[in-house]
Amino acid sequence: MRKTVIPLVIWYSLALITSCKKKPAAEPQQFITLQSTASFPMGSAVNSPRIKGSYYYQGTLTTEYNSITPDYELKFDWTEPQNGVYNYTDGDFLVAFAAQHHIRVHAHNLIWHQALPNWVINFQGDSVAWENLFKTHIESEAAHYKGQVASWDVVNEAIRDDDGTLRNQDVNPGDGSIWRRHLGPDYIARAFQYAHEADPQALLFYNDYGQEWNSVKLDSMIALVVGLKNRGVPISGIGMQMHIDINADNAGITTALKKLAATGLKVHISELDISVNPGNDPNIVFTSALQIAQAGKFQFIAETYRATVPAAQQYGITTWEFSDADSWIPAFFHRKDWPLSFDSLYKKKPAYYGLLKGLKD
Ligand code: XIL
Repeated sequence: MRKTVIPLVIWYSLALITSCKKKPAAEPQQFITLQSTASFPMGSAVNSPRIKGSYYYQGTLTTEYNSITPDYELKFDWTEPQNGVYNYTDGDFLVAFAAQHHIRVHAHNLIWHQALPNWVINFQGDSVAWENLFKTHIESEAAHYKGQVASWDVVNEAIRDDDGTLRNQDVNPGDGSIWRRHLGPDYIARAFQYAHEADPQALLFYNDYGQEWNSVKLDSMIALVVGLKNRGVPISGIGMQMHIDINADNAGITTALKKLAATGLKVHISELDISVNPGNDPNIVFTSALQIAQAGKFQFIAETYRATVPAAQQYGITTWEFSDADSWIPAFFHRKDWPLSFDSLYKKKPAYYGLLKGLKD
C-alpha cells in the first residue's frame, strides 16, 4: 500500500489550526465553601458519635468548617462523672480528629451551672473544699487539653436574664449557680486565672446568651468583662451564643455587636441557630417564605458581624451544629424546627446561601 505523505508545510498548518481550536487550559476551579469564603474561622458545634457514624456529617463538616466546638464532650458531667474518675476519651477523639483535618478547637466549657455531675451537686464542704474542687476541675481539664485546643469558654451563662446580676443558687434554686453560691462573686476572675495557669497559650472566653434582646444583661456582661480586663485577669474574648429566631430584632443584634466590639476583646458568635418556629406551632410547615426569612437573617448576621467587629477581634461565627437533623432545638424544646444551614439530608438550604452571601458581599 502506498504511504500518504503529508508535506511538512500542510502538517504544520494543520497542527496550528488544531492548536488554535483547543480550549484554553481550564482555570483551577474555586471550590466555594463557608470556610473558603469567610475571612475568619467558620465553626460548628459537633458531637463525636455523629463524626464516627456518618460520612455525610464528616464530609460536610471538614469541607465547610475550620473550627469546632464540642457539644457535650468537655462538659463537667462527661469529663469527671465521679470524683477523681476522669473520662477524656471522647474529647481526645475530637481533638485528634480536628488536628488531622487542620481544624481549630474551641473548647466548651469549664464552669457552668448546668451539666454538673451528681457528685458535685451533692458535694458537702466548706469554702476551702469548694475552692479546691473548682480549681482542681479547671486545672486538670485545661492541663489535659493544653496545646491541643485554641481557646476555652471558661465561664458559661453566669448572668441572670431578669436583672443582670450573677446567677446564685441561694437566690434562685432552680436556675442558679452552685459556683456563685459556694465561691462568692469573684469566682469568675479566679476561673480565668486557674485556666490561664494551666494553659497559658489558650484564649479564654466568657460565653453567654441574650445580648441581642436583653440590654440589662448585655450591659452587665460588658461591665463584668471590662472589669476583668482592667484588673489584668487573662480574658481574651466574649462569646455571643445567638440562639435566636427569625423575628429577632436586627437593631438589637447590631447594638450588641457594637458594644461587645467596643470592649476591645475578641467577639465570637459562638452558638448561632435561627429558629423558624419560636411559637411552637405543632402544625408548622417550613414554607419557602420561612426559608427566605431565615436566609435573610443569616445573611444579616454575617454582614453585621463583619461591619461592626474589627478584623483583629473577629474570632469567628460558629453555628450550633449545621444540619437540621442534628439541632438541639427540636429535642430540647419539644417542637418542630429547622434552625440551621443544611437540611436533614445535609443538603444546602437557602439559609446556607444567605450565610455565604453575608460572608462575602
Ligand atoms: C446543649 C446541647 O447541645 C444539648 O445537647 C444539651 O441537651 C443541652 O446543652 N447553651 C450552651 C450549650 O452553652 O452548651 C448548650 O448545649 C446549648 C445552650
